[in-house]
Amino acid sequence: TIDGIILRRILDSRGNETIEAEILTASGGYGRACAPSGASTGIYEAKVRPCAEAIADAQARLIPELIDLDAQDQRTFDETLRNVDATENLSGIGANIAVALSLANAKAAASALNMELFQYLGGAFVDQTPLPLGNVIGGGAHAVDATDIQEFLIVPTGAATASEAVFTNARVHKTIKEILVARGKGCGKGDEGAWAPHISDAEAFEIVAEAVSKVQDETGIEVRMGLDVAASEMWNADLERYVYKNAKRTTEEQIAYIAELVDQYNLIYVEDPIQEEDFAGFAQMTEEVCGRDTLICGDDLFVTNVERLEEGIALEAGNCVLIKPNQIGTLTDTFETIRLAHEYGYETVMSHRSGETTDTTIAHLGTAFNCCFLKCGVVGGERIAKLNELIRIEEHF
Ligand code: PGA
Ligand code: ZN
Repeated sequence: TIDGIILRRILDSRGNETIEAEILTASGGYGRACAPSGASTGIYEAKVRPCAEAIADAQARLIPELIDLDAQDQRTFDETLRNVDATENLSGIGANIAVALSLANAKAAASALNMELFQYLGGAFVDQTPLPLGNVIGGGAHAVDATDIQEFLIVPTGAATASEAVFTNARVHKTIKEILVARGKGCGKGDEGAWAPHISDAEAFEIVAEAVSKVQDETGIEVRMGLDVAASEMWNADLERYVYKNAKRTTEEQIAYIAELVDQYNLIYVEDPIQEEDFAGFAQMTEEVCGRDTLICGDDLFVTNVERLEEGIALEAGNCVLIKPNQIGTLTDTFETIRLAHEYGYETVMSHRSGETTDTTIAHLGTAFNCCFLKCGVVGGERIAKLNELIRIEEHF
């Protein structure tokens, strides 16, 4: 049973405040977890509250309800969060409080059983980690004056192990710096550690493709490219256009443009090519690339939410779901979304946020829940914390 809970306000990677939770059980179990935070947050995400007031409120009316619960009964723990919150979007207790507590509870339960979190949640037959999906050039809401497309991503599909995959991504990231320097471009980084040069999307494609091909030649490991368009950030509802620096595209034009990029760069993954309210556009986009092995992934569209995913499934919008535990706020809800996705043949990608801590929980969740990719950047302390954890997890297989 749970006999101690601590909540505190800590720093995240952008220098903002976030919540850290610690849970202790009577049998000596201990779990600690932190809430991440987004910059390009979806409008349908669970809502955070300012840390200090959320902690004071939780201490007054939430923590007394959690003390003495059985940490191994995750559903009851998460239901208690929901009941005390009493809203649809966790704005009552704050999604930042909820996700930190929910994940800390699972870790305390695993620790009481002397198990790793991925083993506790995934069971005896889990035997592989997800492949790391890494952000190498980025702009949008994550950097000033860089690319329109938020993230140019890579995934080392030919890597034999998680360790090889992690080092391959780092090699591509490093090679991109060399190319940028050779072209006389600045080498600042965005919030997720991706290079954030002042270049066009076309030049970014060219540079990532060149780096990928160089690393493939040097290592013999296949690397594929992907994107997070984060199209909700570009969508102008009044103009009914996706607004790029040098173009304004209707939904039809956006779909044609993305499909062309999929062909030209053999993209394995495209996240949020269409804005978060347009299920029909997303379905049309998915249809447009069917027959190719391209994942069309919903992040802001689904926000890790079962009801929104059900709507997407009914319309055949996308074939992949981005999973961010803090978008929905509890581990139970995160699991239910993944289960529904897999039941209907959607792939799942476990994901970091642009604002992160050194918390490594998502490496365990991505492994336990059989996600194909772990989206968590390539470099930077808060990113490598998760990648290095993937390497440690793999040693168990
Ligand atoms: P966010 O961005 O964490 O800033 O929302 C990541 C993403 O859009 O996938
Ligand atoms: Zn996204």
